[in-house]
Amino acid sequence: MWPGKIEPAEVYIRRIRQDEIPKVIRIATETLTENYSIDIFYTIYNSWPDGFIVAEYRNEIVGFIASSRQSVYEARILMFSVVNHLQNRGIGTLLLRRFEEICRYHGIKAIRLEVRISNKNAIIFYEKNGFIIINMVNNYYSNGESAYIMWKMLES
Ligand SMILES: CC(C)(COP(=O)(O)OP(=O)(O)OC[C@H]1O[C@@H](n2cnc3c(N)ncnc32)[C@H](O)[C@@H]1OP(=O)(O)O)[C@@H](O)C(=O)NCCC(=O)NCCS
Repeated sequence: MWPGKIEPAEVYIRRIRQDEIPKVIRIATETLTENYSIDIFYTIYNSWPDGFIVAEYRNEIVGFIASSRQSVYEARILMFSVVNHLQNRGIGTLLLRRFEEICRYHGIKAIRLEVRISNKNAIIFYEKNGFIIINMVNNYYSNGESAYIMWKMLES
């Protein structure tokens, strides 16, 4: 058990159900700087339901990863967040580990994602979890901010 972290056995990570998407939209609105249309959540879900997972803690959804399959061998994390009051307590790490297991199961060899260059906590979080910065895209977000592209090769 790591100090300050939630006991992993108390967090249940599983595939989202379609009727839970509004809950995830609320978390995304609360935690992510970019605004996404409601439709995009359903499109992501319909494209690859296995890659849309939630963390449940004390019977509440408290975090999620929404992703797509870029190719047979590559997945892309499109959105990833944990509710504000439970951040930095280990839930994101558990979500990411489970996501990597799902990817391996599907034969995926690498994961990529974009992150705001100002989002230091998230960049450190991803680096601690084995991601490296491979590129930068200028003007990636709607407010003109640039993104780092981060990448992780999965061990088989
Ligand atoms: C990034 C995010 C998904 C990580 O999930 P999490 O549950 O907070 O992360 P964990 O507790 O598993 O990991 C903790 C590590 O992440 C970093 N971290 C996460 N939240 C942090 C915070 N509020 N302040 C400082 N560091 C933080 C630390 O490096 C920490 O490492 P440590 O445990 O050695 O101190 C979550 O913080 C979040 O939702 N952030 C807001 C939305 C966001 O930026 N999403 C990513 C968009 S690309």
